[in-house]
Amino acid sequence: MSPEKSTTAVVQPEIDETSDARNEARLKIMELANMISIPMALNAVVRLKVAAAIWSSGANTPLTAAEIIPLILPNNPDADADNLARLLRLLTTYGVFSEHPPMAGDGRRRYSLTEHHQDALVRAWTLVDHAVVGPTSKTPFEVANGEPAYDYYGKNDEMNELMQRAMAGVSVPFMKAIVGGGYDGFDGVGRLVDVGGSAGDCLKMIMSKYSCIKEGINFELPEVVAQAPQIPGVTHVGGDMFKSIPSGDAIFMKWVLTTWSDDEIKLIMKNCYEALPAGGKLIACEPVLPDTSDDSHRTRALLSGDIFVMTIYGAKGRHRMEEEYRQLGISAGFPHFRAVHIDYFFTVLEFQK
Ligand SMILES: C[S@@+](CC[C@H](N)C(=O)[O-])C[C@H]1O[C@@H](n2cnc3c(N)ncnc32)[C@H](O)[C@@H]1O
Repeated sequence: MSPEKSTTAVVQPEIDETSDARNEARLKIMELANMISIPMALNAVVRLKVAAAIWSSGANTPLTAAEIIPLILPNNPDADADNLARLLRLLTTYGVFSEHPPMAGDGRRRYSLTEHHQDALVRAWTLVDHAVVGPTSKTPFEVANGEPAYDYYGKNDEMNELMQRAMAGVSVPFMKAIVGGGYDGFDGVGRLVDVGGSAGDCLKMIMSKYSCIKEGINFELPEVVAQAPQIPGVTHVGGDMFKSIPSGDAIFMKWVLTTWSDDEIKLIMKNCYEALPAGGKLIACEPVLPDTSDDSHRTRALLSGDIFVMTIYGAKGRHRMEEEYRQLGISAGFPHFRAVHIDYFFTVLEFQK
């Protein structure tokens, strides 16, 4: 409809275009519009191993982008230090790097890692850059890469290594918290089963702190246990958690439930229930979403992690809230539930038979 034919008078509110609030809103929208730059920049510095270059002298040494380039791309004369400097500068505003002012006559900023990000970046916590929405029958990852994520990683050494470093980077601080006195649920456990325990690293850390655990069972897919190293006190058992799970006084499970649908989780949890004695516990550690959406870094990290799960695992996997897990436990037969908050990213979800 043309403005002349309109019968409704549109009253424009008085807007002060120059007000602080208006400018603040404009800035927020601009930041939001370009937010994809942040994971792209982070992904690039992780892939290029910039953190390791800054640490190459054995200390967190401030370097210019031009000094970093030969360390990360020694055989590439065309590498662009100015573009690297732009990435470093952006990430500085998110607290990933510290910026050091140019020295006299030098004109170049230097960058070191901030205290909080040293650990995570050196271990290369990484984001995957394949967030393409595809048909529901396929995950976005499959649409972008032509095959499911784990098949792709298996054939691509660089991705495989990045995945393993990413897992370790996120898991190690949490495992230190769980065995460092923040959680008492392993007391009195003699036989502990880790379902989906990968190479057995978590089990090894738990058993090194809890001498009561005499027997550790690392239950994993047969192809994974075939590659797992020998660990004293640990027996690697190959199998399928959807069929049955070895019995134990307690079952530990980390970062396994998140990637499955509700029905699949119920089946896994029912198999855990069958494998436990009366009073036995399933100790599941998962990223758990807060009930409300605030702008804290924790909430943002959990929500952006949920998008990551969506792109890799499609509609099947997702980050859930505490109440959703409690309900899943009830439907699998567990009458008792408690959540223990000892870490910013993972929550310990304890289901007792
Ligand atoms: C996200 S990883 C978590 C690994 C480990 N718990 C950790 O936190 O580092 C999920 C694990 O579940 C294992 N898994 C997948 N399907 C499984 C199945 N049907 N039975 C047993 N383990 C399975 C995978 O091989 C993988 O190691």
